[in-house]
Amino acid sequence: MPLRWRDAMSRALYGPGGFFVSAPGPADHFRTSVHAAPAFASALSRLVRRLDSALGFPARFDVVDVGAGRGELLLALAGLAHDPLAHRLRLTAVELAPRPAGLPAEIGWADAVPAGVTGLLLATEWLDNVPLDVAVRDGDGWRYLLVDPATGEETVGDPVDGADADWLAAWWPTPDVATTSRPAATTGRAEIGRTRDDAWAGAVRHVDRGLALAVDYGHIAHDRPGDGTLTGYRRGRQVPPVPDGSCDVTAHVALDSAGTAGAAAAGTAYTLVGQREALRALGADGGRPALSLAATDPAGYVRALAAASAVTELTDPAGLGGHRWLLQPVGVDVGVDPLMAR
Ligand SMILES: C[S@@+](CC[C@H](N)C(=O)[O-])C[C@H]1O[C@@H](n2cnc3c(N)ncnc32)[C@H](O)[C@@H]1O
Repeated sequence: MPLRWRDAMSRALYGPGGFFVSAPGPADHFRTSVHAAPAFASALSRLVRRLDSALGFPARFDVVDVGAGRGELLLALAGLAHDPLAHRLRLTAVELAPRPAGLPAEIGWADAVPAGVTGLLLATEWLDNVPLDVAVRDGDGWRYLLVDPATGEETVGDPVDGADADWLAAWWPTPDVATTSRPAATTGRAEIGRTRDDAWAGAVRHVDRGLALAVDYGHIAHDRPGDGTLTGYRRGRQVPPVPDGSCDVTAHVALDSAGTAGAAAAGTAYTLVGQREALRALGADGGRPALSLAATDPAGYVRALAAASAVTELTDPAGLGGHRWLLQPVGVDVGVDPLMAR
């Protein structure tokens, strides 16, 4: 029976036998920044140290990773932590999937964001997997799209109303067909980001003092995709988004709308930064080592070259470099600038 996309995605990804909650985990199907290069975790570990200092070295520094996959990022951060911070770090993975066997005891595992976070709340490629409804333009209004979970075939359902209609009016205005190169027939599909806004604001509310950081593919008002972005991934390949539990189903995040919801929850402004700029600010610049190093330290030169090319994958605008960082300070005077200065 056809379902609204939000319900179909929820079942396919998180229901019994769902794509994310049954083995083997996201890393087997697609590469995120977390899997691509250790430079990503190194940059975040530098951010943790700067934030620790900005917070005045609290007795407990939380790193909470929402949508933690199999805990890969927290494992890397644990490996990079040194005293005196290491013994104050409390690492918590928030996941709907079960705790992986063999994960070290120092990494906590929870199915909901803990209250009272002091430190860093992370969400790398979480929001794009928060289920959402999809709508199609119908005259002056919108109608929900329904999907057959077995085949992915779509049909048109009821008119969009209530909070969803308000969200579309505020965040997904009708493209001006006269000023777009897309044909009129392809400018009328929208992904209703309200559920992501609620999820992000809810996570931000669990931070007492510190920074919430979402890293994801996304768009803002001026580059909203007229045709939507809903797609699937399976074993490293992009596939049609059939919500039958056999593939990831994902859509880019309306980051300005999520940012506005998070800022309202925190009572402070949010900042959006491109991944390339963010990594550079945190010391992962991908620059090639000086050739002179090859003469004085050949092994060091090769290591530096390998590290630089790994960073290239993280900053490639056609791939992971297309990510944006949504930074939301909470309960601290410190702005984002000193944390993200080069
Ligand atoms: C694309 S994976 C990202 C994994 C990891 N953060 C990375 O960047 O490699 C998204 C993960 O978010 C998890 N997830 C989605 N909604 C969640 C929720 N409400 N609470 C906890 N985890 C959630 C999924 O189970 C999945 O493992």
